[in-house]
Amino acid sequence: MEKKKLLIFNGSPREGNTVEALKALREGLKDHPELEVREIKAADVNIIPCTGCDVCMSSGDCIYEDESYDTNRAILEADFILFATPVYWWGITSQLKLVIDKFYACHEIFKKNPKKIGTIVIGEAGLYDPQYEIIEKQFWCIADYLNWTKVFSKSYSANKPTDLSEQADSLEEIRRLAVVIAEAVAD
Ligand SMILES: Cc1cc2nc3c(=O)[nH]c(=O)nc-3n(C[C@H](O)[C@H](O)[C@H](O)COP(=O)(O)O)c2cc1C
Repeated sequence: MEKKKLLIFNGSPREGNTVEALKALREGLKDHPELEVREIKAADVNIIPCTGCDVCMSSGDCIYEDESYDTNRAILEADFILFATPVYWWGITSQLKLVIDKFYACHEIFKKNPKKIGTIVIGEAGLYDPQYEIIEKQFWCIADYLNWTKVFSKSYSANKPTDLSEQADSLEEIRRLAVVIAEAVAD
């Protein structure tokens, strides 16, 4: 049987809490060999910011020779997309936003290829802060627009790079997301 594909976007440029969260998820994923996992660190991808030239609307590809063709291709091939990002100024990181802006070139194709998505958002502020809801809404609006299914959105409060690794309950919850993802793509 062909494996289902999980694509993870890591929006953090550093070795910190997002990486810790994704390590926990990968522990959980060990019990799900039916999933093929690909992780893309947004900071390592060469993407020139979208200039809104609209050429991609007719060509289907960005005029700039960057790696957005590969990130958009990875989206098309995936069954489940996990966006994991720190909070930067009440929003997602610019590294991840660069990747998402380039969805523009493929949004009509994306709409015809339903995906399931989840989000993990990590900020310094406590979970009372509106930033988590703001980011969740942004992803949910993107998903609605693209006809994608929202499966989960999880938020955690952690600041120093080692903070999340000291939160046993959060790590356990993230480990268990592997089951949620596996069940979502099995539908
Ligand atoms: C440029 C910048 C902006 C930030 N803005 C916020 C913010 O608006 N709200 C917040 O709670 N934390 C903010 N933070 C803190 C990070 O979200 C926090 O340290 C997070 O744990 C970083 O995740 P990482 O370790 O995976 O990189 C900011 C950090 C940086 C570097």
